[in-house]
Amino acid sequence: MQTDEPAPNVQVFDDPEQVAREAAGLFVRLSIEAISTRGSFSVALSGGSTPRRIYELLASDDYRTQVSWPGVHVFFGDERTVPPDHADSNYRMANETMLSLVPVPAKNVHRMNGVGDAAASASEYESELRAFFGDLAWPRLDLVMLGMGDDGHTASLFPGSAALEEQQAWVVANWVEKFQTWRITLTAPAINAARRVLFLVTGAGKADRLREVLKGERDPARLPSQLIQPRDGTLEWLVDRAAAAKL
Ligand code: 6PG
Repeated sequence: MQTDEPAPNVQVFDDPEQVAREAAGLFVRLSIEAISTRGSFSVALSGGSTPRRIYELLASDDYRTQVSWPGVHVFFGDERTVPPDHADSNYRMANETMLSLVPVPAKNVHRMNGVGDAAASASEYESELRAFFGDLAWPRLDLVMLGMGDDGHTASLFPGSAALEEQQAWVVANWVEKFQTWRITLTAPAINAARRVLFLVTGAGKADRLREVLKGERDPARLPSQLIQPRDGTLEWLVDRAAAAKL
């Protein structure tokens, strides 16, 4: 990585299933540690397709029974501006694969509202985060799960988008030119306030971009995933061999 930042912790696994199992196991371990020491486990889920299998595993007998779900608070890293039952909804994906199948209290599931004015929804979500985290300067999430697009975006922080510059708000509405749509997203400084940030990247289609993000010149306007550098937390990448092929 062409910066003075330490090389991030990258773990390479044989295939997406192994990545998913490692991530599910880490989720369980972190939840046990957080709930036993702080009384709750706050996690921001990623959208997209990569985390589906992780959520399915967490809802399965092998993992579900290891998590003290009443102590888990589920947030989202980003959301599309669609209703919660829409095929593109990150909430719908997480709900179908996990949330509807585990005993997490409904009040502990903090859904971003994708309907109506995106800026208003972003502001509402920031208020919900602030209500949970109290008067902290930034949300101290125990875990933020992230994916990376083949364009280097993460959450809904897309190349060249306005949200990349945000240094005050925890949550913003972000216009995504390539999709001609608004998204709601945690900002980079909000993500960087987390205790642990976990990137999950699989597939050959991500290999070129992953190399650029991890080993190329620092250019976060073009590679927003490079913005993710936890201030007082850990950054880990769980990737499969196909995605790591160019590292
Ligand atoms: C979203 C996600 C987004 C996702 C990447 C990777 O709302 O789509 O938050 O950041 O993690 O686009 O998506 P895949 O896992 O589908 O490759």
